[in-house]
Amino acid sequence: MNAWRLLSKGKNFMAIDFSKCEIRTPESPLELKRLYQMLAEVFPVEKDFFEGLIDGSRTLYNWRPYTLYHGDEPLGNVSVVMFQLKSGTGLQETAGIASVATPERHRGMGIARQLMEHVLKKIDGRNLPSVLFTSMPRVYSGLGYQVVDQGVMQVSVKPMVQADGLTILRLTRLDSGDLATIEKLYSGLLPYDGKLLRDQECWHHYASAVNNSSKTEFAFCRQNGSTLGYARLEHEADRILLDEFYAPAASREVNTALWNWACEAAGEKSKKIISLALPPAHGLWNLLNLEGLAAKPETGMEREVFMVRMPMRKPLEWLPGLRWPLSGKF
Ligand SMILES: CC(C)(COP(=O)(O)OP(=O)(O)OC[C@H]1O[C@@H](n2cnc3c(N)ncnc32)[C@H](O)[C@@H]1OP(=O)(O)O)[C@@H](O)C(=O)NCCC(=O)NCCS
Repeated sequence: MNAWRLLSKGKNFMAIDFSKCEIRTPESPLELKRLYQMLAEVFPVEKDFFEGLIDGSRTLYNWRPYTLYHGDEPLGNVSVVMFQLKSGTGLQETAGIASVATPERHRGMGIARQLMEHVLKKIDGRNLPSVLFTSMPRVYSGLGYQVVDQGVMQVSVKPMVQADGLTILRLTRLDSGDLATIEKLYSGLLPYDGKLLRDQECWHHYASAVNNSSKTEFAFCRQNGSTLGYARLEHEADRILLDEFYAPAASREVNTALWNWACEAAGEKSKKIISLALPPAHGLWNLLNLEGLAAKPETGMEREVFMVRMPMRKPLEWLPGLRWPLSGKF
């Protein structure tokens, strides 16, 4: 990029000398506050969240910002969130790209590009794959990112015949006991490659996000005092989205009971569609098939696309099969 660019301040333009700008990670409370204020301006729908970060009531998981500064003014930001994914018997470290933001008055001058190139140099240096969610794939395609379809499907609401003896406990908030139950089922069931590992800190953020949301609901499927499976859904405009479903694959009863809860939750809000964001190996697909409930690729919903990139733009190898839990968007 040219060293000098015009920076618009309202209707006035001022020249900005990019050779005098630097990319650094804000450390002091004042610098972080200014960054959160800038992010609240760029992402108005997440204003409450960033205000929560400012007043200390919210925190971020593994989030490392790289901010372009002109003096003490943040001109743009890209953050990196590190994750571990299950890969065979080991783990694959993966970088998530988040909070890509340039305030409107500074756009179109290559700031996001400069920050992405800076961050990708670090990610390539560590030979790591990276992933992101975006509604603007054009911003990332020139940097080697490719869209990977998340395979979201939709099914009409239709309950199945359910066995006796199972109960469903519905929850809209999680306390520490509920969280421990979910954590145990999540780590014990459905061990597919690419599954996101959630450490204690990640679960802490997970519960905090759930407890601040009015759109998320859980069901525990219980029998004789033990919880055999759980599922999570999000209430969306014309449908519900099932984005976690942890039940023993061989248990038709538990899968059925949790499916019926999803149908009940949809019916209560007069919704006729259930969208499913679940990995291809999930046992629910088979059950739906056996019950004659045809799952079709999702339509009528605008979701952010998921993009992936191998280090040094190498071929994608295993990345096209990666399914990121929509409940774990970062
Ligand atoms: C997206 C955003 C970060 C771009 O910032 P920017 O500093 O203006 O971007 P740059 O000038 O560095 O442009 C980077 C690339 O994105 C492209 N781009 C930028 N804005 C674009 C837009 N609105 N639509 C399509 N492409 C766009 C540029 O053409 C450029 O492509 P190139 O590198 O192949 O030439 C900024 O518009 C923004 O903050 N938007 C609101 C928040 C947002 O949507 N963030 C992304 C969430 S994933």
